Amino acid sequence: MSNELKPNQLTEILVPPKGADTLHPKPGNLSEDNPVVLKHLRKLEGNSILTVRDLSREVVIELCKLAAILERFEIAPYHVLEGKIVTTAFFEASTRTRLSFESSVQRLGGSILSIPEGGVTGVKKGESLEDIGEMFNAYCDMVILRHTDTDSLERIQKYLRIPLINAGNGSGEHPTQALADWYALLKWRPSLADTKPAKKSEGLSLGILGTPGSMRAVKSFLLMSLLFKSKIRRVAVISEYADPFGADVIEDLERADIEYSVTNDIQKTLPTLDVVYMNSIAFLGESYKTLDSRYKIDKDSKLKKDAVILHPLARLEELSTTLDDTRHNLYFSQAHGAVFVRQALLSSIFGRLDRLPDAIPTVS
Ligand code: CP
Repeated sequence: MSNELKPNQLTEILVPPKGADTLHPKPGNLSEDNPVVLKHLRKLEGNSILTVRDLSREVVIELCKLAAILERFEIAPYHVLEGKIVTTAFFEASTRTRLSFESSVQRLGGSILSIPEGGVTGVKKGESLEDIGEMFNAYCDMVILRHTDTDSLERIQKYLRIPLINAGNGSGEHPTQALADWYALLKWRPSLADTKPAKKSEGLSLGILGTPGSMRAVKSFLLMSLLFKSKIRRVAVISEYADPFGADVIEDLERADIEYSVTNDIQKTLPTLDVVYMNSIAFLGESYKTLDSRYKIDKDSKLKKDAVILHPLARLEELSTTLDDTRHNLYFSQAHGAVFVRQALLSSIFGRLDRLPDAIPTVS
């Protein structure tokens, strides 16, 4: 096979349609003249990813750099995941996470066993998650689990002996969503990946419209943002709740020694933010709940001219579609990029980095 890398045809489709001003930062921003440091990615081989705490800053950056290469170039012919079987076990609804993981695997030549909802498994007959985990050892090489229960990870891991990726556990975490979030941010502002601390005046003001203690994507985004604390001036959480964090996140915030505040004054805070991360859906107890839904933004909201908006989606009324065709919209790029950053993660966990084409710039 020729060693020359061909452009990825998919990227043409991901360019916003003519007339739309939607942000679409180029993957080349992150990968040109910037070889992937393989030693950081090799640390992931055979690992499970249950929380952002399983990832270091170096690993996140190298995953995003590799994702940028996978986004730019046609990698399918190299069959990086050939012979690997991945089970997507989704016991809770999903559009993006399950399908982008499945797309990632299939575009790299691997195979998928797809469980789109728990009702098609023995759970319907009363089977335990523990026993299902034991069965998965024989059927596949990795499990990607979404479940309504925060303790589902420990339960399935009781007998599981293959890597497990947390695709959202109740109000717990969603670590690969945070990878997609930061992949979008690093393409938008590649200097966030360098090691030089930002001058205080140049650090990002990060705003969160949501409740990190109850919203798994928001919590994982905040935890991953702390890995980049040298580039962040302050974090402002706009929430209906006086204490929106939950004990474990507060400990991380305190340890990071980062300036943070909690407010319910969206009018005053919004115009000060460089990055706005928002969400309104939480899975709490037995059902979905809408939190912080009185905070809504649209194209007339008082955003900084260059502010970007991230949203893990699905959205409800908090994020107006009038923002879709504006320069604030980083959320579509964030969702699309998930395919590539998940490919980078799976290639690393499966120890298949050596199957990537030699033309990819890497250092050991
Ligand atoms: N971002 C996210 O988790 O979306 P889905 O619920 O559609 O997977």
